[in-house]
Amino acid sequence: MNAISKSFHGIHANQDINLVVESGEILGLLGENGAGKTTLMNILYGLYQPDSGQIKINGNPIRINNPVESITHGIGMVHQHFMLIQNHSVIENIALGYKDTPFFFPKISIRKKVEQFSKQFDFHMDTEKKVWQLSAGEQQRVEIIKALLNGADLLILDEPTSVLTPLEIKELIAIMREMKAKGHMIIFISHKLDEIMDICDRVVVLQKGKIAGSADTRNTDKKALARMMVGRDVVFNINRERLTRGERVLSIENLNVFGEKGFQVVKNISFDLFKNEIFGIAGVSGNGQRELAEAITGIRPIASGKVTINGKDITNTSPRHIYDNGVSHVPEERIRFGIAPGLFLYDNAILKQHHLKKFSKRYFLNYSQVKHHTNTIVDRFKVSTHSINNQIRNLSGGNIQKLILGREISEQPQLLVASHPTYGLDVGATEFLRKHLLHLRKQGSSVLLFSEDLEEIFELCDRVAVIFQGEFMAILDSDDERFSDIGLMMAGSKRI
Ligand SMILES: Nc1ncnc2c1ncn2[C@@H]1O[C@H](COP(=O)(O)OP(=O)(O)O)[C@@H](O)[C@H]1O
Ligand SMILES: [Mg+2]
Repeated sequence: MNAISKSFHGIHANQDINLVVESGEILGLLGENGAGKTTLMNILYGLYQPDSGQIKINGNPIRINNPVESITHGIGMVHQHFMLIQNHSVIENIALGYKDTPFFFPKISIRKKVEQFSKQFDFHMDTEKKVWQLSAGEQQRVEIIKALLNGADLLILDEPTSVLTPLEIKELIAIMREMKAKGHMIIFISHKLDEIMDICDRVVVLQKGKIAGSADTRNTDKKALARMMVGRDVVFNINRERLTRGERVLSIENLNVFGEKGFQVVKNISFDLFKNEIFGIAGVSGNGQRELAEAITGIRPIASGKVTINGKDITNTSPRHIYDNGVSHVPEERIRFGIAPGLFLYDNAILKQHHLKKFSKRYFLNYSQVKHHTNTIVDRFKVSTHSINNQIRNLSGGNIQKLILGREISEQPQLLVASHPTYGLDVGATEFLRKHLLHLRKQGSSVLLFSEDLEEIFELCDRVAVIFQGEFMAILDSDDERFSDIGLMMAGSKRI
């Protein structure tokens, strides 16, 4: 790609970008949320036309008007949000996107091909399943197979690991290595330094729409890449100050909760949480974390057991009542449940808080206060938007996350229930958020932190409970020597 530029409403998403991919290499495209990675790749995939610049394949200038044309040039792309039809089976989805689908008995011939590919790349794939029955990892594999079947020499993966569990990430990496061994090129988009260092041969760093640098991964390190990406030094290991914990804030007694499908997903869980404490819940997602968080914050009914805040029983009371008692919640699916997509940024910045005195003038909202508050969040969290008078649905996922986080933690809650708060955030925002959680802790808040990221757990938590299939395997102090076994306990293979 030569001198590619693209802007939206006067914002330069890509500015004068040169990018080369060589055959047989895995190229990392690294950059914070909003750096312009997806835009650049959408141009290569033919979804957008550049304002200026040129694309060449094997030295020949080409014009890619749409994704169908990019496929004929051997370019495939797996988007961050999958584009499969939920009610169709795997095989039907593949047949729909396949350029050579035969008219008669299409499923039979395609199934043969899929089986052949699955074997070659060591996939496991049940082609009869409907897409809605598949995990994120399986859906991603369907997208990858689709691209490979269409003859993709160059496969673009847009933040492929952001939707996967740690185990699925390992499987994806194995698939990528296999593809490379077979001569495919891959452009791997990520904002996670460890992954880039682990998987890529070379890395190109974007910052605010421009190339900030590039390097062979052999000759660079995380620190240097982070500096290129953020434009300053980033602290990876924040020191957690020793604090004596204060009085009890949250108390959970013998909690039992049922999930959507009617199964019990939280089984007799009990624990206390104190002032000046971060209590972590470590576990692979899907082991009852979401339901536990929802039960505490009033979104999901509690079958039996008791939740108390500052000695007050709040079991099965409304989310608003629980919020008014000092509990804030950063939900797991924040994009789906944390925002009103059609409303402006400033409306979303005070959702649930609009009744607070400081935001109201008699019966009306005090918009200048609301906007001031929104600007503060946008500023502190570096939400990338051209204006706070923008509908929130126009923001990228990472930026929506930042706004919701800013909203939920800005009020100094007594208890913050945070589900995977750094999921989908770039390093700069992650650093800010982690520091902020420690700041809240120092100011006397309690934090209940749900995370799959062990590094994060080790860095932030005073105590950690490991959850597996709805039960606590153990509750450990951070100085417990068994702390290092958390990984094993998360897999259910060890109980203390
Ligand atoms: N379709 C679009 N309309 C308006 N602005 C857009 C559009 N797509 C991307 N942008 C803006 O372009 C910039 C780069 O976005 P993007 O390429 O998605 O970044 P990344 O993938 O690195 O997170 C952001 O400021 C984003 O808001
Ligand atoms: Mg993107």
